Amino acid sequence: MGTIISVSLLFHILIVSISLISAEKCYDTGNFRPNSTYANNRDLLLSSLASNVTANGGFYNTTTGQYNDTVYALVLCISDPSAEDCASCVNSAIQELIVACPSQKEAISWGGDPVPCIVRYANRPILGTMELSPTDYGYNTGYLKSNLTDFDHIWTSLMTATVARASMNSSRLKMAAGVAKLTSSEKIYVLMQCTPDISQSDCSNCLQNTVTEFRRCCFGRQGGYVQKPNCFLRWDLYPFYQVFSESPGPPPDFITSSPSPTNTTSTINEGKGNNSPRNLVAIIVPPIIFFAFVVLACTFFYFRKPKQDVERK
Ligand SMILES: *[C@@H]1O[C@H](CO)[C@@H](O)[C@H](O)[C@H]1NC(C)=O
Ligand SMILES: *[C@@H]1O[C@H](CO)[C@@H](O)[C@H](O)[C@H]1NC(C)=O
Ligand SMILES: *[C@@H]1O[C@H](CO)[C@@H](O)[C@H](O)[C@H]1NC(C)=O
Ligand SMILES: *[C@@H]1O[C@H](CO)[C@@H](O)[C@H](O)[C@H]1NC(C)=O
Ligand SMILES: *[C@@H]1O[C@H](CO)[C@@H](O)[C@H](O)[C@H]1NC(C)=O
Ligand SMILES: *[C@@H]1O[C@H](CO)[C@@H](O)[C@H](O)[C@H]1NC(C)=O
Ligand SMILES: *[C@@H]1O[C@H](CO)[C@@H](O)[C@H](O)[C@H]1NC(C)=O
Repeated sequence: MGTIISVSLLFHILIVSISLISAEKCYDTGNFRPNSTYANNRDLLLSSLASNVTANGGFYNTTTGQYNDTVYALVLCISDPSAEDCASCVNSAIQELIVACPSQKEAISWGGDPVPCIVRYANRPILGTMELSPTDYGYNTGYLKSNLTDFDHIWTSLMTATVARASMNSSRLKMAAGVAKLTSSEKIYVLMQCTPDISQSDCSNCLQNTVTEFRRCCFGRQGGYVQKPNCFLRWDLYPFYQVFSESPGPPPDFITSSPSPTNTTSTINEGKGNNSPRNLVAIIVPPIIFFAFVVLACTFFYFRKPKQDVERK
């Protein structure tokens, strides 16, 4: 039993540390029957999204079907519209969406691997309408070690400036990355992006909400993210994705001086199709603790196995 528990715990941590951020939300606005016209339209639509979003530079909206069997979809790749990363995020977000929301007429999936993306479908038009819920968020489990008064000042100005830059970005993808110096050795990195179908003021409003909600849930943490149907915020004390000139990943001295943060974050998947409040938690597995776990679990496995074999006889 001890072996099974440690091994399954190990696998849980392993999976959590590999997948970045992924969550689904099924709306309770109605269900379709398996093999119905709506079901077939949805499957057809979902299967066409990955190729079309990459062919359309990272954002794509489309519909399939007629009358009340019409399915509307919207897809956004965040940080990186390059074909390969975008398609693989969208494909895995769709796989998880189909499993989590097998018969819901409307659902959303935030993918996170290797870059973030948003995949949404509904039985109503969703293009051009800014929606502030549902929300998915997570945080780096480490706490800030710097002076919180100073941090608050620097963080808030960086967030405000980045909201403005992202919403006013004249390029098709309303994105902005920002960096601010926190201490002599630490910087704050932030990425914000909106779906390009909403107005500048809606984008600004959406992003301001993500900042407010992060502050409310997670102030004092070393990083995190908030994602909504129409916008995305992530910040950390190290560069992430490929949006900063520095290479991604925590700097080496950062890991040794404060052992909490790593590059890998993940949400624990919310219950399949339920509508409970979205209090998702990101798990950050420090490499040293993770390594200790591997060694511990392997040792357990090695010494316990013969005993189990004997017990079974
Ligand atoms: C789905 O519908 C088609 C025809 O509309 C039918 O041939 C097929 O057997 C159905 N499949 C299932 C699993 O009900
Ligand atoms: C979307 O993808 C489908 C199949 O993958 C393809 O037939 C269709 O032409 C694409 N549409 C656009 C607008 O690229
Ligand atoms: C579609 O709408 C019509 C009326 O607008 C209604 O009679 C019909 O039941 C609806 N079909 C489905 C599958 O909801
Ligand atoms: C944080 O810094 C401010 C001024 O920048 C100072 O007034 C305050 O005492 C400091 N707090 C701590 C806990 O060091
Ligand atoms: C606007 O968005 C593009 C990507 O679409 C990005 O490269 C650029 O840096 C952004 N501009 C600003 C001011 O952040
Ligand atoms: C949404 O799709 C329609 C039809 O393909 C297209 O004309 C329109 O430009 C798209 N809107 C955006 C914001 O991409
Ligand atoms: C950080 O993540 C990126 C992909 O998101 C990966 O390429 C890189 O190797 C990671 N760095 C570290 C230090 O784990």
